[in-house]
Amino acid sequence: MQTRPSVDKAVARKPEQVAIKPQRMGFEFDEKVPNYWLDDSYTLSHTMNALSVLFPQGEQFFVDSVRYFRDCVTDPAKKAEVRGFIGQEAMHSLEHDAMNSHVRDQGMPVEELEKQLKMVLDLTRKLPKRHQLAVTCGLEHLTAMMADMLLERSDVREDMHETMRPLWVWHAIEETEHKGVAFDVFQESGGTYAERTFYLAFSTAILGVVASYFTGRMMLSDRRNFSLRDGARGLWRMWGKNGTFSSLIPTWLNYFRPGFHPWQHDNSELIARFKAEIEQYIAPQYQKGSTRTLQ
Ligand SMILES: [Fe+2]
Ligand SMILES: [Fe+2]
Repeated sequence: MQTRPSVDKAVARKPEQVAIKPQRMGFEFDEKVPNYWLDDSYTLSHTMNALSVLFPQGEQFFVDSVRYFRDCVTDPAKKAEVRGFIGQEAMHSLEHDAMNSHVRDQGMPVEELEKQLKMVLDLTRKLPKRHQLAVTCGLEHLTAMMADMLLERSDVREDMHETMRPLWVWHAIEETEHKGVAFDVFQESGGTYAERTFYLAFSTAILGVVASYFTGRMMLSDRRNFSLRDGARGLWRMWGKNGTFSSLIPTWLNYFRPGFHPWQHDNSELIARFKAEIEQYIAPQYQKGSTRTLQ
């Protein structure tokens, strides 16, 4: 009996008004950023710092896996979206590098974690290339879910210190803008339902282990400030009732629907809502837009 759906062709498209344009921001992080910049919480701040360490190399992996299959895309509009995706992820890497340098200057073992992440990604690069693209689609689903949550939930944004909030809101906007690109390339490349769903589970598990380990290493380096109460509260905020991560489980499961497409959930209104607000944070030298063309 055939249980696997034979058709997995998504029908949704990115709304016309959503543009995928790379924009360097030039964020700077200095002594005005408190160590515990998220809800004054040791646990939550180390968790987000750990996620930030994952971005530069992780996003390079996304870009590489999309590049392998970009020639499968023939539609000129979709080709432009791929260029926009590559450029946006490159900019995210640069901005998170700036944040990660700041975290390193606070005494966190960023370089050591980056070396360990490279080992994990080098292993992942041994997978067949389309499976690597399926990993990217899975991780892009996770980032799109978190981006949507951050833009939807004012309580989470307000908990972020004002020196950090613009980076995360800007990243969330752009993750929303390009959330369908890797998925579309995967479909054009002949990717199957079994591949994409298996690798969502696979990449979620790997990300869970790596992010927890990185958070643990950060906390260990800063153990003199450890508090059981803060740890319990932080875990509840993430995984308790209406937690930042637990509330995402239904969206995570949507990916298993045959015919799923990221734009079946049209949240382009969130982009419009935050775009103008975030533009005021572009550093003067980048205000004329990014002139760099990334291929
Ligand atoms: Fe990104
Ligand atoms: Fe992305």
